[in-house]
Amino acid sequence: MRLLIIGGSAFLGRALAQEALDAGHEVTVFNRGRTAPDVPGVRSVRGDRESRPDLGRLAAEGPWDAIVDTSGYVPQTVGASVRALADQAAAYVFMSTINVFPDWPATPITDASPVHDCSPDAGPDDGDYGTLKAGCERVVVRDFPGRALSLRLGLLLGPHEDIGRLPALLLRIADAGPTRDLRVLAPGDPGSPLRPIDVRDIAQFTLGAIGQGLTGPYTVAGTPANASTYGELLQACITATGSAARLDWVDADFLRNQDVEAWTELPIWIPPGEVPWSVDTSRAEAAGLRCRPLRETVQDTWAWLAADDGQVRRSYQPKRPHGLSEDKERALFAAWDAAKTPSREADPAS
Ligand SMILES: NC(=O)c1ccc[n+]([C@@H]2O[C@H](COP(=O)([O-])OP(=O)(O)OC[C@H]3O[C@@H](n4cnc5c(N)ncnc54)[C@H](OP(=O)(O)O)[C@@H]3O)[C@@H](O)[C@H]2O)c1
Repeated sequence: MRLLIIGGSAFLGRALAQEALDAGHEVTVFNRGRTAPDVPGVRSVRGDRESRPDLGRLAAEGPWDAIVDTSGYVPQTVGASVRALADQAAAYVFMSTINVFPDWPATPITDASPVHDCSPDAGPDDGDYGTLKAGCERVVVRDFPGRALSLRLGLLLGPHEDIGRLPALLLRIADAGPTRDLRVLAPGDPGSPLRPIDVRDIAQFTLGAIGQGLTGPYTVAGTPANASTYGELLQACITATGSAARLDWVDADFLRNQDVEAWTELPIWIPPGEVPWSVDTSRAEAAGLRCRPLRETVQDTWAWLAADDGQVRRSYQPKRPHGLSEDKERALFAAWDAAKTPSREADPAS
């Protein structure tokens, strides 16, 4: 199969390029050459998807069996790519998100859940991330009719993560090394459920979906069969890094009342009440979605981060800062220890 990836050098697009090459496909990637070097073995076309002449040059490199758009965020921009390439491919796969569901993460998501209303011609200022992604899905359906597939993705993890979530946890836990008795803040309950998905599993599903000629929207997240917990996630980080870190579980209600951000400062964690992992993936499972165990994702992400004698670790620059600063973690522990200690007035022995 001849595959074009719009993007293709970073996290998800990179995994897709690598999986496609490994499966024997011919892969073209289109990007500006800024974010990361391309995967060895791909055919690179340099250009900016916001530039009409660059899209024209790209179209001249076709045809392809399928285009996978990993880097579309604005309907107007995605529409320009779709129209420039409509005669050059049999299928267009758009990488979307479960943020297209306005009810996520407050209520469980099924295929029948409502989707944000967004014009297929919306510009960058016409909505938030999830709203604009819904508009992108619509422009692909409108201008690539009958041949469009949208994958509504849940939380992604895996090697080459450029967001900073799992790397923040791994790097913090690795701070302890094999001997230092380091107290690491662990939020809430070790049994809190988790269903992230490895980018390599999305890549394999995508290739299978193209092969089957799937169209329409599919929700693609970690499956119930590979569900995990926050405790297993942190334990996998300890095992992967060989760290002597000691997890100290801090009550969710206590954290809720502190000046600390769930999801970013406490990566991949949302306090009880919201249900980010209650997502129905049964249609994707029926179409072949299979997910590896979370511990394998953690192990391989650490192997990537720690490669080259730690050089990658030192130069690692996430898109956004994630995790707690040491000062903030220390202050939270001080407040938590004080909250756990009975006050003198309440202690009848004092
Ligand atoms: N992270 C999550 O947990 C999560 C969850 C749900 C859905 N998603 C979706 O998953 C996808 C993630 O994609 P990704 O990891 O491959 O990263 P991405 O950040 O969307 O795409 C980065 C790639 O696109 C290229 N690119 C960026 N701007 C470009 C432009 N103007 N013209 C041409 N190429 C351009 C970059 O290379 P250059 O900069 O060199 O051009 C790079 O190769 C996104 O669509 C996101 O919405 C993510």
